[in-house]
Amino acid sequence: MKKILCIIATPKKEEESYGRQMTHHFIKEYLKLNINDKIDILNLYDKEISFLDCENIIDCSKSQGKMYEYANKFKLYDKYIIYAPMWNLSIPGILKAYLDLVIANKITFKYNSFGIPKGLLTNKKAFYIGTRGGAYPFPISFLTYDLKYIKCIFKFIGIKDFKNFILENIDKKPENTKTNFPKTLLKISDFAKKF
Ligand SMILES: Cc1cc2nc3c(=O)[nH]c(=O)nc-3n(C[C@H](O)[C@H](O)[C@H](O)COP(=O)(O)O)c2cc1C
Repeated sequence: MKKILCIIATPKKEEESYGRQMTHHFIKEYLKLNINDKIDILNLYDKEISFLDCENIIDCSKSQGKMYEYANKFKLYDKYIIYAPMWNLSIPGILKAYLDLVIANKITFKYNSFGIPKGLLTNKKAFYIGTRGGAYPFPISFLTYDLKYIKCIFKFIGIKDFKNFILENIDKKPENTKTNFPKTLLKISDFAKKF
């Protein structure tokens, strides 16, 4: 049995959010093929995610406190599903605040004797679902700090098996998004089957 953590980083309800609907569909399709696996849903807006403070950082080095607790809990999972909308070219702050709690020295990464960081979460997988109001084709593709950051930080903690699906133009072309949504869900099904 594999344990999966599904992190949701939007304040929207499922019926208002294409991203959440895609995430729901991904989970449903995944569980059809992996009936014994267990998925925990972590809706960040339902939790009290606070910014890291000095106390958290000092406590973690003493193997106690919120950061220590969050990071140890996070590393127990085999697979991660993350949903986040693009906000101001990046991820919502609440997701960054959560990642600041779980990316902890000696728990999810460590420094080797040369001072080079090494991820400690090996043999794990992540799937990132992202949504954007507009589109970012070349030559503005470099602005997609949402995907760049998530991919990079998961690699930093050792998760190299990282895949993603980004739905763009949700606000710019709402009619297209709606019409094409059944096809979008089919693509999500394919990803879920391979996860
Ligand atoms: C605070 C805020 C900032 C946003 N910034 C961007 C942005 O930089 N680029 C973009 O394409 N869309 C931006 N959007 C639009 C959202 O990405 C879009 O509405 C969202 O992905 C739709 O997600 P949903 O499927 O969960 O409703 C922003 C929306 C909000 C509320």
